[in-house]
Amino acid sequence: MSIFTKKPINMLIDETRGKQGLKKALSAFDLTLLGIGCIIGTGIFVLTGVAAAKYSGPALILSFVLAGLACIFAALCYAEFSSMIPVAGSAYTYGYAGLGEIWGWIIGWDLILEYAVGIATVAIGWSGYVVNLLNNMGIVLPKAVTLSPFDGGVINIPAIVIIGLIAWLLISGVRNTSRLNGIIVIIKVAVVLLFIVLAVWSVKPGNWSPFMPFGFNGVVSGAAVVFFSYIGFDAVSTASEETRNPQRDMPRGIIASLLICTALYIIVSAILTGVVKYTAFGTPAGMAAPVAYALDQIGIHWGSALVSVGAICGITSVCLVLMYGQSRIFFAMARDGLIPKALGSVDPKRKTPALSTIIVAAACALTAGFFPIGIVSELVSIGTLVAFIIVCAGVIVLRYTQPEMKRPFKAPLFPAVPILGILACAYLITGLQPATWIRFVVWFAIGMVVYFSYSMNHSQLHLSSQHTAQPTGK
Ligand code: ALA
Repeated sequence: MSIFTKKPINMLIDETRGKQGLKKALSAFDLTLLGIGCIIGTGIFVLTGVAAAKYSGPALILSFVLAGLACIFAALCYAEFSSMIPVAGSAYTYGYAGLGEIWGWIIGWDLILEYAVGIATVAIGWSGYVVNLLNNMGIVLPKAVTLSPFDGGVINIPAIVIIGLIAWLLISGVRNTSRLNGIIVIIKVAVVLLFIVLAVWSVKPGNWSPFMPFGFNGVVSGAAVVFFSYIGFDAVSTASEETRNPQRDMPRGIIASLLICTALYIIVSAILTGVVKYTAFGTPAGMAAPVAYALDQIGIHWGSALVSVGAICGITSVCLVLMYGQSRIFFAMARDGLIPKALGSVDPKRKTPALSTIIVAAACALTAGFFPIGIVSELVSIGTLVAFIIVCAGVIVLRYTQPEMKRPFKAPLFPAVPILGILACAYLITGLQPATWIRFVVWFAIGMVVYFSYSMNHSQLHLSSQHTAQPTGK
C-alpha cells in the first residue's frame, strides 16, 4: 500500500449500502434547487460591484463568461464522476478513487477552503447586508460588534449568529432543510428576475463605453473575483448518498443549476453596467450592494428594498448549502479514517451528521467573527480552483485506467473538455492576488503535515489492505 493507492470504486458504492448510509430523499429537482441555493449569493449580489469598478468595467459580462466557461468544463467532469461514483464526499471521493489517497486528501483539504472558509465569507457578506438594511431603517449597531478586528471592530456577531442558526437547521434533518432551501431559492431567483425586468428599460448603451477600461488583464482579474459567484454547483455532488437515483439525477442537478445561474448572471451583469456607469460602483454603496444600488440610481427605491431583502435570503441559503456540503465531506473523510472517526458519526434519530456539523459551525463562526471578507473570499476561490483542476485531471486518468467502469454520464468531446477545464481554472488562478497564492501554499503545507503525521497511519484502506486491495488499486 502507498500514498497513491486508489480506493476501489466498488468498495465506495458498497459502503453506502451499509448501516452508516444517509437517508435517501432528494430528487433531480431538489438537487437543482440545492445547486441554485448555493450558487446565487454574495458573488452576484456583492462582488459584481467590486469587479466592475476595479477590474472589468463594462466588460464584466466577459469576466462572467470567462469564469462561467471554466465552471462549465469543470461541471461536466463533476457530472461524469458523480454518475460513476454516487457516494457522499464530492471531489474528495473522486480524487481518492481516481488518482489515489494522497490526491483525495489534497482535494479534501482544499475543499475545507471552499466550504468552511466559504461559509465564513458568505456569513460576513450576510452580516454586511443586514447591518446596512438595519441602518437604513434607523437601527444603528455599534461597529465593535459588527466588524472584525481587521476592519476596525472587535467581533462580527451577526455573522456568528447566522452560522449558528444554519447549523441548527441542518442538524434538524435534510428533508426540512431542502424544503426551506427551495422556498429561499424561489425568493432569490424572483428578485434577480425583478431586477432584470425593472432595470432593462433604463439601459443606456453609452455606459458600455469604454468597454475594457482596464484592458484584458483587468477582465481576467475580474473573472477571478466573480468566479466566486459560480461556486456551489459542485456542492450538489456532496448529496449523492441522499439522492434517490444519483446516477441519473446528479448530472442533471449539477448541469441544470449551473446553466440557469450562468444565464441569469450574464443578463444581470450586462444590465448592471448598462444602467449605471461602472465607475459608480466604486462608491461605498455601489460596492456593498451593487444590484440594489443600481435600482436606487434609476429611482426605483421599492425595488431596491425588495432586492436587498431577497439578497439577504439568498445569501442565507448559500450558507446553508455550504455547511451541508462541508459536513458531508467530513463524513466521507472520517469514514475513510483520514480524519477522526467521530467526525463521521450519524445521529441515529435524525440521520444527519450532527457532530461534524457542530464542529464545522464552530470553526466557521471563529473565522467569520474575526477575519475580513477580502482575505477569506480569495482563499475560497483558490481552494476551489485547485480542486476543480484535480477533478478534471481525475476524469482523464480514470478514462484510461478504468475504461470498463460504467459511466451513466460522460463528459463530451473527451479529452478536450477536461483539458480545457484544467487550463481555464489555472488561468483564473493567475488573476488572483499573489498574497493569496502564498496563503494557499501555507495551507497546503499544513495539510501535508496532517496527512503524513495522522491520516496516513489511520487510513482505513491501509489498515484493511489485505481485504480490500484490488488489481485496479495501483
Ligand atoms: N456562489 C456563492 C456566492 O456567490 C458562493 O455566494
